[in-house]
Amino acid sequence: MELKITKATTLKNKPDESKLGFGKFFTDHMLEVSYTREKGWYNAEIKPFGNLSIHPASTVLHYGSEIFEGLKAYRRKDGKVQLFRPIENARRLNTSAERLGLPQIDENECVELIKKLVEIDIDWVPHEEGTSLYIRPFMFGNDETLGVHSIHAAKLVVILSPVGAYYAEGLNPVKICIETADVRAVRGGTGYAKCGGNYAASVRAGEKAEKKGYSQVLWLDGVERKYIEEVGAMNVMFKINGEVVTPMLSGSILPGITRKSSLELMRDWGMKVTERQISIDELITAVKSGTLEEAWGTGTAAVVSPIGYLFIDGVEYKINDNKIGPVTQKLYDNLTSIQWGKIKDEKGWTVEV
Ligand code: PLP
Ligand code: COI
Repeated sequence: MELKITKATTLKNKPDESKLGFGKFFTDHMLEVSYTREKGWYNAEIKPFGNLSIHPASTVLHYGSEIFEGLKAYRRKDGKVQLFRPIENARRLNTSAERLGLPQIDENECVELIKKLVEIDIDWVPHEEGTSLYIRPFMFGNDETLGVHSIHAAKLVVILSPVGAYYAEGLNPVKICIETADVRAVRGGTGYAKCGGNYAASVRAGEKAEKKGYSQVLWLDGVERKYIEEVGAMNVMFKINGEVVTPMLSGSILPGITRKSSLELMRDWGMKVTERQISIDELITAVKSGTLEEAWGTGTAAVVSPIGYLFIDGVEYKINDNKIGPVTQKLYDNLTSIQWGKIKDEKGWTVEV
């Protein structure tokens, strides 16, 4: 695909790196690629960051045909910049696209386009400890008709945002509220896809949790409301009686890249790690009996986040004395050392820009 590059004539002032938060600032450029069934993907363009112009009947505005990804560019000590497992994000973008009836894209080409965009805005990759450049590719159906039909036109857009910690708590444990009324996804639905609709349906429960003082919601399965699924923006793991357990990929949870990487690292370290169903009763019994040693979440934005409190049915349970546990800490240290290039990447997970 040919790539047209139009540079911004005026550059924005960069934000204070100690006050980035998450997703509040955007860089000088963005990538936009168009698709039609007739032409395939065409008109790849890196251009000044700005508003999109779409038809009021565009599919995405009415029927929610939207998917997205999240990955990061990290600045190493030597000043160079690297991405973490970008091909995994391109693969998952295609898995999500397949589920939503959106078009497939060549995965290597997708990574190359992202690298090019990051290269152009490379000065936006922040330097402070714990900061990175969050990369948000998204694709949406863009047919200009109100019929609910297969998608003939689409766009792929990539925007970049310098970020700090996702949670205000940073690496301090977060408080999570288990949702027993709303459900996020069911098998056969779109749970395994990273589509906007999954998040739209989660906002109500998230708001309820926030009002009670919790950072995010932990979802239970959509059929029996009995088994643990995942948190709003991360997969979850528990250490019970010396064994790490995490919900298996059943079709209703997102196959997280941080999850996959964490499982691989822990298995390399010789730890017992099991992917299976975990019922809420098992978890509460483990908390009460003191066998739940640690709980944490994994995600690109959230990195590795210890969970200090779990709330369900009017009761709050404290985990590991609301402190980060040794496995959570080791995972955080190892993953972030690979991501920020502080240790040699034995896994071949990182890609230099
Ligand atoms: N689960 C949900 C619902 C998410 O939004 C995310 C974030 O991307 C994750 C899990 C973690 O996935 P990953 O590690 O690929 O970022
Ligand atoms: C990510 O970690 O990349 C995510 O997509 C989480 C997001 C919903 C904030």
